[in-house]
Amino acid sequence: WERIDGKPIRQRLLVVANRLPVSAVRRGEETWSLEISAGGLVSALLGVKEFEARWIGWAGVNVPDEAGQKALTKALAEKRCIPVFLDEETVHQYYNGYCNNILWPLFHYLGLPQEDRLATTRSFQSQFAAYKKANKMFADVVNKHYEEGDVVWCHDYHLMFLPKCLKDHNRNMKVGWFLHTPFPSSEIHRTLPSRTDLLRAVLHADLVGFHTYDYARHFVSACTRILGLEGTPEGVEDQGRLTRVAAFPIGIDSERFIRALEVPQVQEHIKELKERFAGKKVMLGVDRLDMIKGIPQKILAFEKFLEENSYWCDKVVLLQIAVPTRTDVPEYQKLTSQVHEIVGRINGKFGTLIGVPIHHLDRSLDFHALCAVYAVTDVALVTSLRDGMNLVSYEFVACQDSKKGVLILSEASTANSLILKVVCDDLAIEK
Ligand code: F6P
Repeated sequence: WERIDGKPIRQRLLVVANRLPVSAVRRGEETWSLEISAGGLVSALLGVKEFEARWIGWAGVNVPDEAGQKALTKALAEKRCIPVFLDEETVHQYYNGYCNNILWPLFHYLGLPQEDRLATTRSFQSQFAAYKKANKMFADVVNKHYEEGDVVWCHDYHLMFLPKCLKDHNRNMKVGWFLHTPFPSSEIHRTLPSRTDLLRAVLHADLVGFHTYDYARHFVSACTRILGLEGTPEGVEDQGRLTRVAAFPIGIDSERFIRALEVPQVQEHIKELKERFAGKKVMLGVDRLDMIKGIPQKILAFEKFLEENSYWCDKVVLLQIAVPTRTDVPEYQKLTSQVHEIVGRINGKFGTLIGVPIHHLDRSLDFHALCAVYAVTDVALVTSLRDGMNLVSYEFVACQDSKKGVLILSEASTANSLILKVVCDDLAIEK
């Protein structure tokens, strides 16, 4: 609650993210169905309950016609969501191009695509222009819906220009920006042609947040080394104006998972899965099909395990839930084919007429099915090569109930040990 002109008003939170928590599928000219979007940002923010929140973002679909836009806006309003309509070309240049082909690999230490090393490259320049244009489009929607006293919370690498666009329009707006990926070392950020513009734009926010202290430290040192600004224990100072910078590791709403395990339909599914995999240890991977998740590496490690331990061949199964993502980007298409090829080869090599060692699904599971799978899993494998903050690890732990499954985390798959401990304490799991 906040007081405006002496009157207490419930403070609203405007969450602005590239993707809405629901993605729209067109069923008819003016008919839409809404499905929950995949990804860490969505599962983390579904737990925010203290504020009256509105979510502003792209519905993941191109809607060129006015009638369609009107109908979708109405359907989304019921979910407290406000759409930003991006045309196909903008999505291609801004989302597939600048966000997913440049910022995403760079922030995860995979470097810039070869062709983008030169700032003069045409594709880079047009993608960066589209990025700024798209950020302005998000800002226009925020400005239209903003009410005095609202707090605007911008999310992720897609919207690094947004704090600047918002503050240019209204200096009194309270603006936060949070990054869900790692922020890389300043030596990596330095290689980006638009490095200074992005840093300056983010610094318009009042508060800038990261998952870990290291990401925050990298951001501050990028500002001091690249922009020549002063880093203070609170953040970054520019001509007497302080932008606060801090670490706020996200977690999950663990109660939601614990409650789900009590649902009769989930109990029933757990029973079925236990029968299905009786006599076998169940290993599990749940990832978006992304190059940072280390899926081929995980599957190859499983193959090596089978090769070196033939005793286990018919006593273990790996379930890999690989949720398709960014399917228009060529790198992601290549990765999908690569994973399919490896899975096929391993199943051909170790499979029998009775079964195969790897069950690979190219889709997400609904929430209840996922909880049931977590509950029957003996070993969860989180093998990210880099990760902003991996939430699958928390979800798995939250679903352990009385059983004590094993969680194997790669060194680089950031999962905050403190949060894992809180989830374990909630469940009275000791280790
Ligand atoms: O962590 C970055 C992020 O934006 C998260 O929201 C989510 O895990 C993922 O990327 C979603 O990607 P996309 O919206 O491109 O499918």
